[in-house]
Order: sequence, then structure tokens, then C-alpha cells
Amino acid sequence: MRKLALVTGTTHGIGRVTARELAMADHDVVMLCRDLEAAAHVRNQLAIAAPKAAIHVVACDLASFASVREAASTVRHDFGRLDLLINNAGIAPSRHRMSEDGFELCFATNHLGPFLLTALLLERMAAAGRIINVASRIHNRGSLNLERIANPAARFIPMAAYAQSKLANVLHTFALARRLLGTGVTANCLHPGVVATNLLPRWLRAIRPILRPDLIDEERGAKTTLHLAMSDTVACVSGKYFDEHQVARTAAPAANGVALQEALWDVSERWTGLRDDARRIPDNVPTAAD
Ligand SMILES: NC(=O)c1ccc[n+]([C@@H]2O[C@H](COP(=O)([O-])OP(=O)(O)OC[C@H]3O[C@@H](n4cnc5c(N)ncnc54)[C@H](OP(=O)(O)O)[C@@H]3O)[C@@H](O)[C@H]2O)c1
Repeated sequence: MRKLALVTGTTHGIGRVTARELAMADHDVVMLCRDLEAAAHVRNQLAIAAPKAAIHVVACDLASFASVREAASTVRHDFGRLDLLINNAGIAPSRHRMSEDGFELCFATNHLGPFLLTALLLERMAAAGRIINVASRIHNRGSLNLERIANPAARFIPMAAYAQSKLANVLHTFALARRLLGTGVTANCLHPGVVATNLLPRWLRAIRPILRPDLIDEERGAKTTLHLAMSDTVACVSGKYFDEHQVARTAAPAANGVALQEALWDVSERWTGLRDDARRIPDNVPTAAD
């Protein structure tokens, strides 16, 4: 039977390969993308690579709460149970910008948008659904500075902002897995490797030859996501962080702090408006399939 996978950020890089491989492995795919022209181009490519798969595009700018809400509403209305929710999209901006909702753009795109999307789609997960957050090894260098995130005048250090957002991905995953215990739905996160994609800052791309053999292509960069999405060996594994070799690793000490996980959950619920939302995550998440 075909499964249904939702993947964010499939216009380029790791997400594009992830969507293609899932489509070729008996999944119908919902691509959540902000660039609809690029998404249509990728959809055409996937239709050729996987003619049996139904490939859908839903517009979504993860940096906008309104856009995420609209996309989640479309998904809930138009599609059945999700077997996979893959929060892949991400940015690593080199300059300070604020989202339309008033949050630092990297944090808004990489954490707050996916947090809201996941919360709004949780009740649509199939009984043995898998939620996968594409984090990064750089979360090891991250620390949360919540006051700066909502401060347009805060000092901006690109690498620190990106590391903070990726630490948030791991904290989110672990807090989510705790809430999902006993439901059958799993939540895991991963480091894909250092992958030669558009995400890499220009200066890092310029020293590509030096980085070899550490730098991998996007085909290899999608391997851990695909492993977590499809391997039977991780069907019951939840609340783990995997490296680029598909091995579960201990995440950074900061990511394992339950108090920090809960503090981030709390502030994310308030900032995204989930606190006042009828669709706020219930304590016991219903997962029965239709
Ligand atoms: N590359 C690496 O070395 C590396 C290492 C560790 C972790 N990661 C993580 O891997 C994930 C995928 O990154 P990648 O390397 O494949 O980068 P990429 O090639 O730049 O792809 C990023 C994708 O995210 C989408 N995206 C960006 N902002 C968005 C928004 N506001 N709303 C919706 N979609 C948005 C992009 O869409 P557009 O076409 O609209 O820009 C693109 O499809 C990210 O979470 C990244 O943090 C990457």
C-alpha cells in the first residue's frame, strides 16, 4: 500500500532527493514549498522518476505563521493520514532579518515554523507515523538566547544564529518524543553530513577543495533522513539524534536538558499562538488511523 509523506523544502538540496527517493519507494508526496515555480519544476522531475506516485505541492513559507497555518489547513483538508512528516527546510542567513511575525528569521524559519506546522498536523499522523527533523551537528555549538530572538536590534552572528536554530530542532524533537510516548508515532532528528547545497555559506563553498573528503553530495546527504523514514530497524525508535552514518549518537548536553526542552516548548507555543489555539497539542495525542 502506498504511504503519504510530507516533506518541507523540496525545491533544492537534501529535500529534493528525499522527495524523489520516497516517491520511487511507494510514497505519495506532499511538497511544502515557498517557491511554487521551482516546486512545479521538481514535481515534473519526480513525476518522470516515479510515474506511479502522486506528487502534490502546497504553498508554505515557514517564516510566516499565517502561511504555515494556511498550509496545515490545506493538508488537513485535502489529504489523509500522514505516514511521514519531514521537517527538512532550512536557511543559514548571513545577515540579520526579522520575520513578518517579529522573530529573527533563521529561528523563525528553522524552528518556529516547523514547530507550528508539526503541532497543527500531529492529529493527522498515522498510527505508526514518523516525524523527522533535519537538525545539524552544529547544534553542539548552539545556545538558546531567547531574548535576542524577538529583538530587532540584537547583535547578529550568523553561525551562532544557525547553531541556535539547530539546537532548537533537537530540543523540539526530544520534547515531542516525550509527548508521543505510547502513541506509536515517533520523532527523531539527524545530522545529514556536510552537504554541498545552496545552504552552505559562500565562504565555505569557496574552500570546498579543502573540505574534501568531508563534503558530501545531496544524494548521500539524504541517506539518514531516508533511513529514518523507511528503515524497519528504527520503526519503534523515538527521541534519538542520528549522525550522517545512520548511527544514533548522544546529542549535545544542552539538547538533553529537560528544563531547556520544556522552556523552548513553552515559549514556542506562546510565540506561535498555539496557546490560544483550539488545535493546541493535547496531552494524549490521538493517533488512530481513519
Ligand atoms: N547542507 C548541509 O551541509 C547541512 C548540514 C546540516 C544540516 N543541514 C540541514 O539540512 C536541511 C536542508 O538543507 P539543504 O542543505 O538541503 O539546503 P538547501 O539546498 O538550501 O535547501 C533548503 C530548502 O529549504 C527551503 N526553504 C528555505 N526557507 C524556506 C521557507 N521560509 N519556507 C519554505 N521553504 C524554505 C528552500 O526553498 P527555496 O527554494 O524557496 O529557497 C530549499 O528547498 C536544512 O534544515 C539544513 O539546516 C544541512
